[in-house]
Amino acid sequence: MNRNLQSSALELVDRLERDRDLSDEEFFLVLTDDDEEFREYLAARARAVRERVYGKEVYLRGLIEFTNYCKNNCRYCGIRRDNRNAQRYRLTGEEVLASCDTGYALGFRTFVLQGGEDPFQTDDRIVSLITRIKARYPDTAVTLSIGERERESYQRFFDAGADRYLLRHETADQAHYELLHPAEMSFVHRMQCLRELRKIGYQVGCGMMAGSPGQKTEHLVKDLRFLQEFKPEMVGIGPFIPHHDTEYASCPPGTVGLTLKLLSVVRLLLPEALLPATTALGTIDPMGREKGLMAGANVVMPNLSPPQVREKYLLYDNKICTGDEAAECIRCMRARVERTGYQIVVSRGDWHC
Ligand code: 5AD
Ligand code: FES
Repeated sequence: MNRNLQSSALELVDRLERDRDLSDEEFFLVLTDDDEEFREYLAARARAVRERVYGKEVYLRGLIEFTNYCKNNCRYCGIRRDNRNAQRYRLTGEEVLASCDTGYALGFRTFVLQGGEDPFQTDDRIVSLITRIKARYPDTAVTLSIGERERESYQRFFDAGADRYLLRHETADQAHYELLHPAEMSFVHRMQCLRELRKIGYQVGCGMMAGSPGQKTEHLVKDLRFLQEFKPEMVGIGPFIPHHDTEYASCPPGTVGLTLKLLSVVRLLLPEALLPATTALGTIDPMGREKGLMAGANVVMPNLSPPQVREKYLLYDNKICTGDEAAECIRCMRARVERTGYQIVVSRGDWHC
């Protein structure tokens, strides 16, 4: 790009930081400009904003993947219902509690209960899990990531003590949503769930994959508009990675460059957002999570699931950290974070309003 065009591109970043807004055409330019100087400037501004809000602190979330049974059939996902090759498992309540014990001793103060949409996990069972975790560790936050449920269920979980809920919107474009999901899944219902969660009082997380099949830059611009309007407390962004047992097996993965760019733009749009440097980002690039932190992310989510089930929770191929004990994983993660100049803290890591 020539000098003048490039200086106006840098000016876009300044304006995005100042106004937390750009026109659709300008967002499009930001998302497609591949110039090295531009990408570095965007990441540097995102980092500056992140440090203004959160300093050098990185928050820890302990991910407990407690079931990989799923009644859904999302086309991109390795644990989709129709994947007969997935080895299914469920952790017992005792096993979940034991993962929390391990995590608490290692400094985790947030536990994320993540699972497929498993009909066995009735509202009563989820309420019981939340109640037991909160009774044992009242100074922790419990985050749920168990998909779409009815408003009454979300309310019961909240009343039992759940603090946060992650439900990626996946894409803010209805036609794109319908491409990625079978007809039995509804874009409108998913968005409705996010609004219910917000009304109930959860800290809410949404998010999307970078480079999912059929994704156009226009779709990402819509995602940014949605985030701007919905103002989630958390945004999960990771690259799409093909899984060999899905129809997208031979689709190209999302790129590190696009994922980092999205993290930086979201940091400038929503300065207080909790943004994880995801496992998927660490999977497509051995330094992906470090690069994510350097582009505006402020959360890491090491796996706390018992080692014997880790290699069964495979949403995509080549997932990292599936062979490590929690203690080893956190040691590795601490060292990685410290090399970026940031530091993992022992804290619930709530949203800064
Ligand atoms: N690649 C990357 N991310 C994926 N997810 C599901 N399948 C894949 C994949 N193949 C993401 C979805 C989902 C979250 C739990 O994991 O965005 O919401
Ligand atoms: Fe899990 Fe390195 S962060 S092994």
